[in-house]
Amino acid sequence: MDKPFSLMIHGGSGTLEHIKREGSEADFTRSLHDILEAGRKILAAGGGALDAVEHCAICLENDPLYNAGRGSVLNEYGEVEMDAAIMDGRDLDAGSVAGITYIKNPIALARCVLDKSEHVMLIGKGAMEFAKLHSITRMEDDYFVVESRIRQWREAQQSGRMMLDHEDAEPQYKLGTIGAVARDQAGNLAAATSTGGIVNKRWGRVGDSPIIGAGVFADNETCAVSATGYGEQFQRTVLSKTISDLIYFKGLSGPEAAKAGIQYLVDKVNGLGGVIVIDQMGRCAVGHSTSGMIYGWIEHGGDTYCKLS
Ligand code: GLY
Repeated sequence: MDKPFSLMIHGGSGTLEHIKREGSEADFTRSLHDILEAGRKILAAGGGALDAVEHCAICLENDPLYNAGRGSVLNEYGEVEMDAAIMDGRDLDAGSVAGITYIKNPIALARCVLDKSEHVMLIGKGAMEFAKLHSITRMEDDYFVVESRIRQWREAQQSGRMMLDHEDAEPQYKLGTIGAVARDQAGNLAAATSTGGIVNKRWGRVGDSPIIGAGVFADNETCAVSATGYGEQFQRTVLSKTISDLIYFKGLSGPEAAKAGIQYLVDKVNGLGGVIVIDQMGRCAVGHSTSGMIYGWIEHGGDTYCKLS
């Protein structure tokens, strides 16, 4: 019998009221379900956790519903500027890119950094040169920029604000980022996170998503984590690594560590956001301090579940 695998993905956290108002819940559920099934195929066939999380993140980046890849939010110049990172729990190898433009799938570029460079993180112009060297797919502006993001950006510009993704009258904004975590049949863990960041962002702002230990972390001995939320707060609390440390040093389970990690985020910086976690036993867990989160999971090769809660 095949050894069980587990897979989780997320599409951001925050208030989901606008999704309910727009009636797009079913679109999100269908998208999450299809992406989890694509990941299941890889893992059920004995594929690696790293390949599964990269593939799921690519699918999430290609879907304009999410704030990553196509459909990313716009910076102060009305441009898409993206960040992404991927991590292999076998040896803590990692690849990360920040402040990149025109790359169809930032997570594929992060994977290329992991596989084909001696570095962990590349940014801006240099990252783009590296992408060219490795023939990473580029797209033009009109591929990335979707109508709803232009409206959101105009509103942010008019009000002179930086916004945490979707424009919304609610006190908490939807905090967009995408991510995937997996445990494969061999027991290896991996994590991936990708984002367009925050609306109307300035000065080369980079959030937590491409920062190893903040927005992403994976260690076969502990867990795989992908975070979503207010990036600065996840950077200051190094939240993904903190969750791993709760398992490594304190002996918590993944579900206990996810809960304790979110409590730490709230206690220390009154943080807003969420995490998906798969531990070394393949247990799936989620935690969020926002009113909602968009995510789905397959635990131990079982049924596929999607949740907007
Ligand atoms: N969590 C995504 C960001 O703050 O950029």
